[in-house]
Amino acid sequence: MTVVKVGINGFGTIGKRVATAVDAQEDMEVIGVTKTRPSFESEIARAKGFDLYVPGDRIPLFDEAEVPVKGTVEDLCEKADIIVDCTPGNVGQMYKDMYSKAGVKAIFQGGEDHSLAGTSFNSTANYQESWGAQFSRVVSCNTTGLLRTVFPLDRQFGVEKAYVTLVRRGADPGDSKGGPINALEPSVKLPTHHGPDVQSIMPWLNINTMAIKASTTIMHMHTVTLELKNEVTTEEAIEVIRNSPRVRVVNSSSGIKSTAEIMELASDLGRDRSDMYEIVVWEDGIKSTGNMLYYYQAVHQESDVVPENVDCIRSMCKLCEADESTRLTNIALGIPYKR
Ligand SMILES: NC(=O)c1ccc[n+]([C@@H]2O[C@H](COP(=O)([O-])OP(=O)(O)OC[C@H]3O[C@@H](n4cnc5c(N)ncnc54)[C@H](OP(=O)(O)O)[C@@H]3O)[C@@H](O)[C@H]2O)c1
Repeated sequence: MTVVKVGINGFGTIGKRVATAVDAQEDMEVIGVTKTRPSFESEIARAKGFDLYVPGDRIPLFDEAEVPVKGTVEDLCEKADIIVDCTPGNVGQMYKDMYSKAGVKAIFQGGEDHSLAGTSFNSTANYQESWGAQFSRVVSCNTTGLLRTVFPLDRQFGVEKAYVTLVRRGADPGDSKGGPINALEPSVKLPTHHGPDVQSIMPWLNINTMAIKASTTIMHMHTVTLELKNEVTTEEAIEVIRNSPRVRVVNSSSGIKSTAEIMELASDLGRDRSDMYEIVVWEDGIKSTGNMLYYYQAVHQESDVVPENVDCIRSMCKLCEADESTRLTNIALGIPYKR
């Protein structure tokens, strides 16, 4: 079996999760992760058996802290078949030249523009478009969330127009600098960039988005209104959403009334870091009237893109077809697989 050598550039919120997820697959291995400064996270990386690589000018910092490093980021690029770039948004451009020079494939994240890679990725909607590519970009957590439900609904019923309001978490749980702490902050530049980001994968979709930052850290919530091409019953819509890959349908009568209980469910499932990789939709919050469809969905921003990164590696390295990749990734991460 081909085992793909994967380097992870950036070991923060997304990078550490992608490293664990890649490590759980049989057809790929983590050959190293990068950090720019020694911290508790570099200790965690080493404890998990991941070799540390750092920017050349940072080596003295690690030497001083007596944290052993295996080499520079350039060294990692030379050894890897593919790099998953999990550096902060807008840093990817700086690294693209390094990846090109080393002739290594690279996956960027949603904090980068579509134009950086030229191809954007979502497992459900366009796995094949990154087949064999040198560069691709896994779209953001919110865009991934929207594609997971809107793409299958569009395929089944046809979406005339989509209107979405995103209630965004103010900061990630491990971030003590973000906010707001006690306020709701509207994005006043309208429509927001989320619609065009969905269009990087579904260019034909007429979608308009608004967003509010809220004082919560655990999840985003979307209110979705779809004008469909034809009349659809609520039951027909539920059926499509229930059968969509990496979508979990819950009912508030089971006690899941908010994002708090979703995170408790993820914890009870025994997932790594209590992650909820699936997009969660309330069954009793799905309603169709004529050709208008309404629903709510919750997005675990720290983890929904993780399985997509694993699938993107398989597509770019031409390891297997979309269904098989989804199946393998889901089994390894404990996500129910839907045929
Ligand atoms: N957090 C989310 O909710 C989320 C969801 C989906 C997508 N994304 C996207 O995923 C990407 C990463 O976000 P994140 O939240 O994981 O960021 P993060 O938690 O801040 O982690 C960034 C990592 O990159 C490293 N880093 C910082 N500057 C670097 C540089 N110049 N060169 C190499 N490494 C550098 C940091 O290392 P040090 O700590 O050693 O400095 C850290 O390990 C972004 O594009 C973001 O938009 C984030």
